[in-house]
Amino acid sequence: MCHKASVPGKIILLGEHAVVYGRPALAVPVTQVHADVQVSNSAREGIWFDAPDVDLHAELKTLPSDHPLAAVVHNLFFILRIDPFPSLNIRIDSTIPVASGLGSGAAVSVALIRALSAYTGHSLSDEQVNDLAFEIEKLHHGTPSGIDNTVITYARPIYFVKGQPSESFKVGEPFFIIIGDTGIIAPTKESVGDVRKLWLEDKDKWEKVFGRIGEIVSRARFMIERGKTKELGGLMDQNHALLQEMTVSSPELDKLVEAARKAGALGAKLSGGGRGGNMIALAEPATTEIVAKALTESGAKRAIITKVE
Ligand code: PMV
Repeated sequence: MCHKASVPGKIILLGEHAVVYGRPALAVPVTQVHADVQVSNSAREGIWFDAPDVDLHAELKTLPSDHPLAAVVHNLFFILRIDPFPSLNIRIDSTIPVASGLGSGAAVSVALIRALSAYTGHSLSDEQVNDLAFEIEKLHHGTPSGIDNTVITYARPIYFVKGQPSESFKVGEPFFIIIGDTGIIAPTKESVGDVRKLWLEDKDKWEKVFGRIGEIVSRARFMIERGKTKELGGLMDQNHALLQEMTVSSPELDKLVEAARKAGALGAKLSGGGRGGNMIALAEPATTEIVAKALTESGAKRAIITKVE
């Protein structure tokens, strides 16, 4: 018996960091990258993980209890009242780069929850999957907003406000985003922690900045829903400037953002936690390849063109 689940990666279009402080953010799935999990019976006793992308080959009991993979199994089997645990082989393959703003951790959690629940004959609602994945995100991030697990679970464009039921939004006219990877591993936990320090030092100032980002996000949603995508470019540029002020950009991210704009992108910004990881650019269909080339020529480890629809 073998059960599989495959889920996409994600990018945050606008609103990262401010979303931790209650402002809205927009995120979309990225199907060009995915996490795949396969659960099957094991002849050996125990639950064996095989995740070649991160060089992990281990039995459940040898992992610390707060390891995200172990925590998925323990939390899920507790909820499903599965005791004793069956003997399993769990194979995890992911093309989503780790710690780079594409939601690798949340994607593996969601795929693992889905494959394991299917294996045990339980069908969980998306809401249940999302709630469980959020618990695991807390182990990765400390104080996550929940945006990653939400957009990955529902696999559609999401207007996200922390603590509120997820809301999908309509894309009036499909548009193209080019994702440029700095190749620099940047743990979100650190940038989120640094922004918190800034906020604790001067709450008035940073609440205003987060508020401006919230306005940008609301305006962007309005434009996207009406198919006025070109307007989105300027909003992305404004959001990037505010993220720079928040100290979460980096010379490498800024270089790629500049290169994209010079190559004809309508707008560009970092995406996700920042300091490394990925940036995104908006371009007309005829310019996407040119922007992607400019990004790799300016040091991006890779560039992915994705259609938002
Ligand atoms: O780095 P990512 O894509 O996991 O995104 C983090 C987004 C933040 O707003 C910085 C943190 C959060 O939990 O929302």
